[in-house]
Amino acid sequence: MTFYRQLSATVTWAALAVAAVAVAAPNIARAADAYPSRPITMVVPFAAGGPTDVVARSVAAAMSKSLGQSVVVENRLGAGGTVSAAYVAKSAPDGYTILIHHNGMATAPALYSKLPYKPLTDFSFVGQVADVPMTLLGRHDLPANTLPELVSYIKQNQSKVNLANAGLGAVSQLCGMLFQKAIGVDLQTIPYQGTAPALTALLGGQVDILCDQTTQTLPHIKSGKVKLYGVTTAERIPALPDAPTLREGGLKGFEVKVWHGVYAPKNTPPAVIDKLNGALRTALKDPAVVARMKDLGAVIVPADKQTPEGLHSWLASEIDKWSPIIKAAGVSAD
Ligand code: MLT
Repeated sequence: MTFYRQLSATVTWAALAVAAVAVAAPNIARAADAYPSRPITMVVPFAAGGPTDVVARSVAAAMSKSLGQSVVVENRLGAGGTVSAAYVAKSAPDGYTILIHHNGMATAPALYSKLPYKPLTDFSFVGQVADVPMTLLGRHDLPANTLPELVSYIKQNQSKVNLANAGLGAVSQLCGMLFQKAIGVDLQTIPYQGTAPALTALLGGQVDILCDQTTQTLPHIKSGKVKLYGVTTAERIPALPDAPTLREGGLKGFEVKVWHGVYAPKNTPPAVIDKLNGALRTALKDPAVVARMKDLGAVIVPADKQTPEGLHSWLASEIDKWSPIIKAAGVSAD
């Protein structure tokens, strides 16, 4: 008797569970259909006005048009971008909180042994955005005018020269670390919450050297307010055709290119990811975005990279590429 009562209770609960799923499924589908019904927050890991912010605001404005809802940029600073990534990883997977981040998604696992998220598994992937070259800059009154002169100046004044960056996990840190390794020095580094304040410090002469992205540095290079020692890409770039690469200046094999991806928390419904990805791809064709990226020296990635799969496989390859380099350099947040 007891057995039959238990069985009938189990059957009743099972029936209720099936009924609940049956009721919930159309609701989930309707929620995804209605998405987005309110503004979306795009979290940016670095300071307002800086290179990541500039790309984010251009793309967010264009995505707003096709989604029919505002995509509002929110700057959450700290720990080389990991504060923002952790925040989005733990946000509700409903498509209303998304992240734009760069190479820092790939370098953080090697830099932070206690990283509170797993880049490859704690996110749903939306797609890649644009690649950006970096430039190696000095304050305008630094005595060196070329890369070889800079290298010999640094070697003669190692204890006095400092290098700004945006913290461990920032591309400015990655580029600065590779530069120091390439020339065999260990400089004092001064971290900021983004390269917007770091560049302000360089312009004000409070720091000596900064590796930063063309999306922020071009106007200051063109107006001569900073010294340019080279670009970090393998080839010269159309935005600065006369600037030598760091390779040309003697740093064999040197290459850093900044790439950007858009992420949502893991388990975001596929229909929501489809809408976000569609809006991203439409944004990357928007004439205003195309023109803005060109002006900033950024290159919109090809269509196959603007996909969730394109971003996921690229991130995996970048983690594989940078982890051993960072480990060998002995740089860590611990
Ligand atoms: C920024 O937006 O401030 C930069 O992307 C920081 C960096 O990674 O160097």
